Amino acid sequence: MITSSLDNRRLDGMVDLHGHMLPGIDDGARNLEQALNMARLAVADGIVISVLTPHHLNGVYTNPAKQVREHCAALRRALREHGIPLDVRPGAECHLVPELPAALAKGTALTIADRKRSVLVELPVHTVPLGATSILEDILAMGLQPVIAHPERNGELIEGSEKLTEWIEMGCLAQVTAQSCTGRFGPQVQEAARRMVRAGLIHVMASDAHRDRRRVPALRSARETVAQWTSPEIATLLTEDFPRALVDGQPVDIQRLRHTLPARRDGWANWLRRLRA
Ligand SMILES: [Fe+2]
Repeated sequence: MITSSLDNRRLDGMVDLHGHMLPGIDDGARNLEQALNMARLAVADGIVISVLTPHHLNGVYTNPAKQVREHCAALRRALREHGIPLDVRPGAECHLVPELPAALAKGTALTIADRKRSVLVELPVHTVPLGATSILEDILAMGLQPVIAHPERNGELIEGSEKLTEWIEMGCLAQVTAQSCTGRFGPQVQEAARRMVRAGLIHVMASDAHRDRRRVPALRSARETVAQWTSPEIATLLTEDFPRALVDGQPVDIQRLRHTLPARRDGWANWLRRLRA
């Protein structure tokens, strides 16, 4: 057990819910050596659990559950042999396509940590597809909670959070990418991330790591950014408590987020700006 430098609570370490560390099966780690380097970086950053989420059903990569479980077991063995203390769990980044609910029902698409409670879903880069809400409703009706991957990087959601708000009210969760918060994907994405985090629309921060350089498995510096945007307690919920609940197959208590969010000052700032105009 370690002590958080941010809010002095005793914690078990950070949980990274989204990353492409499994070697050779998507656009993530190219080989085992790179995967092991990524795992070392994760441990050095304070991450204790990584959910391995290769792309699935995105039109380029298909990674069915059975195959991901086998690859995850092989990486777990390699981590043990190399003395790297990272706990890895199987998962998938499932593209939000009409076939997804059926794939989840059949068990060919993996849920988060294979718990059959929540599923990481990815939107296209530029738009929100017409049937997105109805696919999310179908997944919710199956008793699974969709976690929307990096909404701050979707062109349509950058323009406004209305659809994301609707999905959260339906019962979905959302995951922001660490490097979006620190500005790697540009000021527009960073501003969208800030807006969503401060509005309480984000429940998890994850690395979405692809490599052992640049897009690396690290959360700590973005966690400090989120702490500045909101509070150290929120940063801890997003990197420890909530992702750990999902990995354990437990419900995420979103009321804790709502109660912990600092009072919004934007309304007053806008009012003052209008008064001065
Ligand atoms: Fe990803």
